Amino acid sequence: MTLTNPLPLKLTSRTALLSCALAVAGWLLSSGAAMDASQAKPATADEPHHGDHAHADAATLTNPVKSTPASIATGKALFERQCVSCHGPTGTGDGKSAAHMTPPPADLTDGTWEHGASDGEIYTLIKDGSKNTAMKGFASKMTAQELWSVVNYIRTLQVH
Ligand code: HEC
Repeated sequence: MTLTNPLPLKLTSRTALLSCALAVAGWLLSSGAAMDASQAKPATADEPHHGDHAHADAATLTNPVKSTPASIATGKALFERQCVSCHGPTGTGDGKSAAHMTPPPADLTDGTWEHGASDGEIYTLIKDGSKNTAMKGFASKMTAQELWSVVNYIRTLQVH
């Protein structure tokens, strides 16, 4: 708006403008409050407590282990020993100890990656685990090489 406006606003339209601005301010405030409330909401089975998110640092990691048949075989053997109890033999999340787990073990075959879809993010999640869930980090149980091989194996489980 310029000060040299040849058609000054009438009082009524100015009032309308002001109430409109107040309405917008009120809406902004209330939507902000609603966002805080949803963030504070406790976890439920269908709605993981952390929400979808990715890990920026992890996303920049590149997989140094080529997805060769040997690496995939190594990853498969490790997966069968360390992961099937929760993620199930085919990775769909139906392992023997998965029942009643909250949040449930992720389906590793559905192409949905709650913690990021890059190799680096999947690697970091397996290495460090997912806080406050049954998914513990495997950093002390596997070498980096082995962890990357598990990532290579998981990639072969995708159904999409
Ligand atoms: C004790 C049960 C348990 C075991 C054992 C386990 N997981 Fe998990 N895993 C989970 C749970 C529960 C989640 C979901 C965590 C969440 O929602 O944040 C999960 C999530 C994941 C994810 C994240 C998927 C996504 O959508 O981003 C990956 C990858 C994963 N697990 C891989 C593995 C691998 C590989 C192993 C074996 C080395 C393993 N898990 C062993 C319970 C387990």
